Amino acid sequence: MSFPTIGALSNPVLRSGGSYDWNSSALQESHWKSLEGTGQSTKKSTSMIEPTGTYFVDRDQPPLSSKEAEVVREFQDLYYRRWLEQGADTINLSWFGHRLLKCPLDLWVYQELLVRTRPDVVIETGTRFGGSALYLAMVLDQIGHGSVITIDIAVEPLRPEHSRISYVAGSSVDAAVVAQVRDAVGSQRALVILDSDHSADHVYEEMIAYSPLVQTGDYLIVEDTNVNGHPAYPDFGPGPMEAVDRFLSDNDEFVIDQQCERFLMTLHPRGYLRRHVGLNTLRASRQT
Ligand SMILES: C[S@@+](CC[C@H](N)C(=O)[O-])C[C@H]1O[C@@H](n2cnc3c(N)ncnc32)[C@H](O)[C@@H]1O
Repeated sequence: MSFPTIGALSNPVLRSGGSYDWNSSALQESHWKSLEGTGQSTKKSTSMIEPTGTYFVDRDQPPLSSKEAEVVREFQDLYYRRWLEQGADTINLSWFGHRLLKCPLDLWVYQELLVRTRPDVVIETGTRFGGSALYLAMVLDQIGHGSVITIDIAVEPLRPEHSRISYVAGSSVDAAVVAQVRDAVGSQRALVILDSDHSADHVYEEMIAYSPLVQTGDYLIVEDTNVNGHPAYPDFGPGPMEAVDRFLSDNDEFVIDQQCERFLMTLHPRGYLRRHVGLNTLRASRQT
């Protein structure tokens, strides 16, 4: 077999401390086996990276002092405020000439998650200019696997064409759109990125609609949890962070993956959610 895969994540190996052993050879083998016969194992693009490596950071980070944590908060606030209030281009990025609104450090995390979890489908709510969908599709090109479904209520001219990208026009919470996406995903493994209307009610509704498509070990990313004073844009009103809090208050199937915040600068603090093995199942198994 000449197509090495990374840890996989339909059956991740759970360590005693609660983290996953992404690099376990058993895990890789099981992921490889799960692809056999599906046709995915042989789908290669001419430009894909081969072999895909197996180095992933998977350990707790040293804690920050309160002074250091304050520096981080201040920088996160400045980074967003420069864009919001001063017209600076901190979050206006260009990816092969297509615009996207991101922090480059978050894009690096996305690349790591895509390679590590190797989703079949990436669902993005909020396409805007299409630069973020193109970024995701081009990383998937290098992996040689996966597609992007991106949803937006508005139509923008000059969005990039790419064979891995499907554009869906409509509201991400419209029942017909949700049904269309669920049909397209079927039983495949999805990574979901929520970046559309950032009001708390809307984001919560998206979380309810799309979280069932995220399988164990895979990610639901809620973008722009930094607004409403976390620590940026204090006057925003209830936003993505409040939606995350509400979602997690009655859902123990997802955990915040703080390793995704290890670069210190992120627009999505507490926004990287990983579907854990059902915690109730875990607790029950620990008691026996
Ligand atoms: C922050 S932008 C997306 C940015 C893009 N993902 C990027 O990184 O460059 C938010 C987008 O969400 C779209 N939007 C707003 N409400 C929406 C809804 N109910 N459903 C889908 N998209 C929506 C807007 O039209 C806008 O294009």
